[in-house]
Amino acid sequence: MELRHLRYFVTLADERNFTRAAERLNIAQPPLSRQIQQLEEELGVELVFKGSRPVRLTEAGHFFHAHAQELLDKAADLKTMTRRVGSIERKLSIGFVASTLYGLLPEIVRRFRERHHSVEISFHEMTTVEQLKALKEGRIDVGFGRLKGDDAAIRRIVLREEPLIVALPVGHRLTRAPGALRMSELMDDPLIVYPKAPRPSFADQVLATFRERMLVPRQVTEVRELQIAIGLVGAGQGIAIVPDSLQGMVRTDVAYKPIDDRQAVSPIIFSARAMDRSQELANMLAIIYEIYDERKIAYVAETL
Ligand code: BEZ
Repeated sequence: MELRHLRYFVTLADERNFTRAAERLNIAQPPLSRQIQQLEEELGVELVFKGSRPVRLTEAGHFFHAHAQELLDKAADLKTMTRRVGSIERKLSIGFVASTLYGLLPEIVRRFRERHHSVEISFHEMTTVEQLKALKEGRIDVGFGRLKGDDAAIRRIVLREEPLIVALPVGHRLTRAPGALRMSELMDDPLIVYPKAPRPSFADQVLATFRERMLVPRQVTEVRELQIAIGLVGAGQGIAIVPDSLQGMVRTDVAYKPIDDRQAVSPIIFSARAMDRSQELANMLAIIYEIYDERKIAYVAETL
């Protein structure tokens, strides 16, 4: 059994159709059918129900699919990591969700640059879901996102649980309320959530925060990205729930208020390829925890 067999089978299982799978693999259909047959003969079990359309996997097929995918991810990881280890220039590509740029990310990177001049750093703004794909494809080496996800090819660490706050138009009646706001006070204003796609996203985290408290916002508007959400808040179109870091985005038309609910939080997740134990990542993590210690920020540091 070779990696090629795994790739053929996983593509067939994903497409559930021999013609489409063969097209995606850039081969003709008869050789694809032959390879699947060879695989079944070698394993001595049926992986797909004969003649099923769309293609249906047997129980053994489902088992094989899940583990074959894992092996393919590991093989891709091995290729990226070997290139990385062998490369003389040290590079670190960072994927990040926009909100982290208003919080500690700039300080973390500044310190990293000061201490490790020879590492060339690049930045790529992307959602957490996009980060996972980019890690596997070797386009980034570390991602800072907000969703926990579940993927054996990715090492994830919950760095901390960041409090959520409310962004309101300046002059909004709730800006005059003393102290923190209760979630139940936020139902009457149109709620602006982001990003609209890809899902799941921070938008789902915010909507779940309402749902878990059995609250239903009167009107929800989904927008493409954080800057648009905040712009619309400034224009008086509604309110937005955002991570506390956003207080770093100073605007004259937006006011921020804390939420009176310690469970209303959004995690900051560090993600890297499971195999990547490079010194750059260890140095980056050390700087993050150093900053948390200096600023007395409570952290979680839990590997998922
Ligand atoms: C933080 O705010 O805790 C953070 C932001 C970006 C990267 C790592 C941590």
